[in-house]
Amino acid sequence: MGGKDFDIETKKMYLYRPKFDTNPILKILIYESIETVTMRISSEIANAINDQIAYEASATHAYVAIGSWCERTGYDGSATFFFEQAAEENTHMMKFVHYLNISGAEAIIPATEKPQGNFDSLESTFQAGLKSEQTVTKLINNLVEIAEGEKDRATYSFLQWFVSEQIEEETLFETILQKFEIVGRDKIAIYQIDRSLASIRSEIMAKGDSQQQPSAN
Ligand code: FEO
Repeated sequence: MGGKDFDIETKKMYLYRPKFDTNPILKILIYESIETVTMRISSEIANAINDQIAYEASATHAYVAIGSWCERTGYDGSATFFFEQAAEENTHMMKFVHYLNISGAEAIIPATEKPQGNFDSLESTFQAGLKSEQTVTKLINNLVEIAEGEKDRATYSFLQWFVSEQIEEETLFETILQKFEIVGRDKIAIYQIDRSLASIRSEIMAKGDSQQQPSAN
């Protein structure tokens, strides 16, 4: 038994370990505190990352809700797409959670609001997705600016993966929305778009991967 506490003011993590009182009658189990970790990031960055965790959690649920609408509306390809998207958002959230915890700060796991559950059209679900990704890009850029301002190289370096990821995510949603312009919005066109989402995702991801590979020359 024991426990731990984080003091945001002193940026210290305290562990509590059990220690028996020498009093032979009472034998009270008391705890002594041992200071263990000094927070390696500022409170401002910790707070901003916790805000990001909250947004990623909301995005996870928002995509599950969209996928659920697609599933019950008969857009099976889109349902799979949005459930995968939700899993990605959950992974993003976990990256931030781990980063805060290993930096000696506390990751705060938030409650989230009920996401939108009904949509006018398949196209509107992708518009909602693009809007959400654009918001995330702004938040990530803001985090990068804070890290730059504080000369926090570790956080700056950690955030670079998210910068690349956001380029890929926005490109993905923009590419899908373009399909509605090109293929159309009648029932057959929408059926084709719904069927083509897995291959669109693979193409965008492959392009992103090739841009991150070092050149052979
Ligand atoms: Fe976690 Fe799609 O941004």
